Amino acid sequence: MKIVVVDNYDEMSKVAAEELASVINNKPEAVLGLATGGTPVGMYKELIKMYNEKKLDFSKVTSVNLDEYVGLSGDHDQSYRYFMNTNIFNHVNIRKDHTFVPNGLAEDMKEECSNYDKRIEELGGIDAQILGIGNNGHIGFNEPSDELSLGTNLTDLQESTIEANARYFASKEEVPTQALTMGLGAIMKAKKIIILASGEAKAEIIDKVINGKITTQIPATMLHMHSNVILIVDKEAAKLAGNI
Ligand code: GLP
Repeated sequence: MKIVVVDNYDEMSKVAAEELASVINNKPEAVLGLATGGTPVGMYKELIKMYNEKKLDFSKVTSVNLDEYVGLSGDHDQSYRYFMNTNIFNHVNIRKDHTFVPNGLAEDMKEECSNYDKRIEELGGIDAQILGIGNNGHIGFNEPSDELSLGTNLTDLQESTIEANARYFASKEEVPTQALTMGLGAIMKAKKIIILASGEAKAEIIDKVINGKITTQIPATMLHMHSNVILIVDKEAAKLAGNI
C-alpha cells in the first residue's frame, strides 16, 4: 500500500482528482468505481473544475458505484444515485446511461445483486476504484464481520454506521437500516484502488488499517493484499499512525 500524507482535505481532494484524471487520460473509456460520503466531495469538485478547463473528458467513461441504501429512490436527496448526480454526473459530460448505482428499490434484491456483478464483469472490471472508509473500517457498505461477501450483497447496517450517517438525514430514524453494496470481489479485482481519509474522526481507524493485522473485522485491511493501492490521507487522519 502506497501511503501519501497530505496537509489537509483540499490537498487530499486535489491529489485524488489528479490520480483519477491520469487514469481517464490514459484510458478514455475507463471504468471508474465511485464512492459517496463526505470524503470524496472535494475530489468531485476538482474533477468538475478540470472538466470545465477542458483537461478532462468523461464522454467515454463508465462508472459503477459502490453502494446504495435500500428503500430510497434515485430522486431521494439522501440516495447515493442523487448524490452522484448532484455532486458530479450533472456537471460533466459523462453519459447518464453509462453510470450505474445499485437499485435500492429493486423488487428482487438477489437478482439486482447478481445483475450488478454481471454488469461489472461485462464492462471488463474496474480500472480505478475510489474508496472512503467508515469509522469501523467498512469499505462500500461491507461491514466488519467474521465473513466478507465476494459479490454484491444486501447488508444490514451496523448501529455505528447508522449513527455516523445520521448527520446527513433529518434524524437517525430516517437512516435506512439496509444497503446494497459491491462485495470485496469486485473491489479487490479493480486494477487500481484509491482510498481517501480526512480528519481526526478517521485517525483511529487509519492507525488500525496501517499498523494492524489483516482482519475481516476491519474490511479496509484487506486492501493490503492488493498490489496497487494508494491511500491518500491528511495529517489529521494520519496523526495516530506514527511515522509513515
Ligand atoms: C458511507 C459509505 C462509504 C463511505 C463512508 C464514510 O457509509 N457507504 O462508502 O466511505 O460512509 O463516509 P464519510 O466520507 O462521509 O466519512
